[in-house]
Amino acid sequence: MTFPAAALLLLAAASAADAHLAAWSKGMFCKNDLSTTDQPNAALAIQPLYNQTFANWWFHGPCINYPPPSGEFLNIPANGNFTVEIAANRAFTTLSYNGAKSSAWPDGKAHPDNYNTNNVDPMFPLTSTGCLSSPNLHAHNVSDAAGTAFAISYNNDITKAQVSDFTVFSVLQNTPWKRIATYQVPNLPACPTGGCLCAWAWIPNHCGQDNMYFNGYRCQVTGALASAKAVASPSPPVWCESDQGSCLVGAKQFTIQYQQEGNNVKLPGGFQKDGSWPSPGYNSKMGFTAGAQTDIFSNAVAAATPNTCPNPSTTVTVQFVKTSTVTSTSTVVVTATASAAKVTSSAAAVTTSTSAKATSSAAARRSFFARREFYHPIME
Ligand SMILES: *[C@@H]1O[C@H](CO)[C@@H](O)[C@H](O)[C@H]1NC(C)=O
Ligand SMILES: *[C@@H]1O[C@H](CO)[C@@H](O)[C@H](O)[C@H]1NC(C)=O
Ligand SMILES: *[C@@H]1O[C@H](CO)[C@@H](O)[C@H](O)[C@H]1NC(C)=O
Repeated sequence: MTFPAAALLLLAAASAADAHLAAWSKGMFCKNDLSTTDQPNAALAIQPLYNQTFANWWFHGPCINYPPPSGEFLNIPANGNFTVEIAANRAFTTLSYNGAKSSAWPDGKAHPDNYNTNNVDPMFPLTSTGCLSSPNLHAHNVSDAAGTAFAISYNNDITKAQVSDFTVFSVLQNTPWKRIATYQVPNLPACPTGGCLCAWAWIPNHCGQDNMYFNGYRCQVTGALASAKAVASPSPPVWCESDQGSCLVGAKQFTIQYQQEGNNVKLPGGFQKDGSWPSPGYNSKMGFTAGAQTDIFSNAVAAATPNTCPNPSTTVTVQFVKTSTVTSTSTVVVTATASAAKVTSSAAAVTTSTSAKATSSAAARRSFFARREFYHPIME
């Protein structure tokens, strides 16, 4: 695929700076930036989201059109854990160069174990706001790292899934920090055929521009128990820093903040306890406990949904016929358990979305890169 020259420049600038972070793993959208070939230096996914329209932050804007290859998932073991690599560039993970450029830290560099702003690495002077500059952790020290989260949607239709379909199921406190990040998983039920959608989210506690991070994944729950309860419909999280008794217990959405559209959290006036503006991170201020979120289930046992994982795939070639003219030929991969009815309806969905998708994806890409402020210089 070819990029407009301006886009290439922006991408190059993004990878040169030790800017920002994403959770890299199999199954992620934009693992190869806006390309369908291997991009070991991919870094679009790390761009923070600030003052964006819904279309520009949801699934990280144009990344929504760059899903993982068919059949590739981030595996989420029910009642277990899974590991992703938090890094400023795919180059600094084991997904690139056999891990040769990776270190214990998200920037591929060496730092002291007790890295903090009172123990500064002379190679990496502090930012102008006095925070660690590399990796760009938006923090002074590990206890200042705001926390990151994974959310899951059992609606796996990328064209229809909504914010209200995503429930935060795991919080890793005091992250992002080092590259390896292991998230604990509650008793999640199996995903429908085709897996689930997942999202990684982070809202830093200041230390630079107030940003939101949101990356998408195709994921699947492995080892799910047949008795697992369905995930309840999630509500937006609620600020409860100074009154922990008022925290919202139960299924919570991920937090949307600092955007032009979609913000779902009310913040109090004044300051939070540390003296800065209220920052709605994945921590006790928003009623999130550390680890697996075990309070997210409804009382109903989840509907039996086949997990596609162990099933072999079958490739079927389908011709889409419109007003007796062949308009396109497409390959649809279905699992052995999918019914004929499913194939028909998925073919119909592809027919209706193919041309619209192509147009909207090109338009989205243009507008994304036209929005220079998306790559606004980060005030640190
Ligand atoms: C957000 O974006 C809009 C439209 O691009 C712009 O008018 C506004 O000034 C921006 N706000 C901030 C706080 O940057
Ligand atoms: C993750 O799960 C593995 C396998 O069950 C276990 O050995 C390991 O201790 C767990 N790691 C964390 C950080 O929970
Ligand atoms: C971490 O940074 C915060 C914010 O500057 C500070 O309040 C706190 O004392 C620091 N903690 C440690 C252990 O240095």
